Amino acid sequence: MRLQGNNVIVTGGASGIGLASVERCLQEGASLVIADLENSDGQARAARLDDQYDGRCLFKACDVTDTAQVDRLFADTVAELGSVEAVFNNAGIGGIAPSDEVTDEDFLRIIDINLSGVFRVARAALRVMYRQGSGSIVNCASILGVFGQSQTTAYTAAKGGVVNMTRTLAIEAAPKGVRVNAIGPGYIDTPLLEALDDDMLQGLIGLHPMGRLGRPEEIANAFLFLVSDEASFITGTTLMVDGGFTAGKS
Ligand SMILES: NC(=O)c1ccc[n+]([C@@H]2O[C@H](COP(=O)([O-])OP(=O)(O)OC[C@H]3O[C@@H](n4cnc5c(N)ncnc54)[C@H](O)[C@@H]3O)[C@@H](O)[C@H]2O)c1
Repeated sequence: MRLQGNNVIVTGGASGIGLASVERCLQEGASLVIADLENSDGQARAARLDDQYDGRCLFKACDVTDTAQVDRLFADTVAELGSVEAVFNNAGIGGIAPSDEVTDEDFLRIIDINLSGVFRVARAALRVMYRQGSGSIVNCASILGVFGQSQTTAYTAAKGGVVNMTRTLAIEAAPKGVRVNAIGPGYIDTPLLEALDDDMLQGLIGLHPMGRLGRPEEIANAFLFLVSDEASFITGTTLMVDGGFTAGKS
C-alpha cells in the first residue's frame, strides 16, 4: 500500500486518465477527491468507488477556469479529509483547427483550461502544502508540450507552458518540502480522442515506435510513481510516457 493514509485530489478525475489514476491510488490505500465539472460522471463514479475501496472517494464539482471553485475545492478537502498529500492537475480539453482559422474564443478557452487552470490548481495546492511542509503535485502535460503538431496551436502552447511552469514551480517549492513534476503522455485511448477520425488515429498510432496507443492505466502508474516516496528526489521533471514518440523517428 504505497499511498496508505494519503489524500489525493485528481482534477478531471471523472474520465480517462484521471479516472484511471483515481482508481490506482485507491488500490494503494489513499482517499481520493474526484474534482470535475458538475455535469460530468464524477458523482456516480465516486459513489461506486467509495463502496468498492477502503479509502474514501468523494466528488467535488470544480471548474478549473474558476478561481473561487478551485480554492473552495482545496478548503473543502482539507476540512473533510484533514490534508492533501498529492494532486494530479489533469483536467484538460483537446482542440484541432488550422491556425489561421482559430478564433480568439477557442484559443483562449484551451489556454484557460489547459494552462491557466493548471496554474490555479497548483497555486491552491501550494498554499495547503506549504502549511503542511510537504506534498507532491503532478501536472498533466503532453508529448505536444515538447513537440509541435499541425492544427494544435493553442493546445501545444498550453502544454509547452505546463512543461516550463512545472520547472519554475518545482524550484520555488523545493525548499518548502513540496515536489512538482509533470507527465507527458503520448496518445492515450480515452474519450479525448473521440473527435479524431479513423485515418487520423491510425496515422497517430504510427508515430509511436511501440505501434499502439497508450492505456490510461499506464499514465496512472506514472502518476503513482511520481507522488510516491520512490520519487523522493525527483522534482521539476516531465516524465514522458509515450511508447517512444518523443525518442525520435524509427
Ligand atoms: N488522451 C490523450 O491522448 C492525451 C495525450 C496527452 C495528454 N493528455 C492530457 O491528459 C489529460 C486528461 O485527458 P483524457 O485523455 O483523460 O481526457 P478525458 O476527456 O477523458 O478527461 C478529461 C476530463 O477533464 C474534465 N474537464 C474538462 N474541462 C474541465 C474544467 N474546466 N474543469 C474541470 N474538469 C474539466 C472533463 O470533464 C473530463 O472528465 C488532459 O490534460 C489531456 O490534455 C491526453
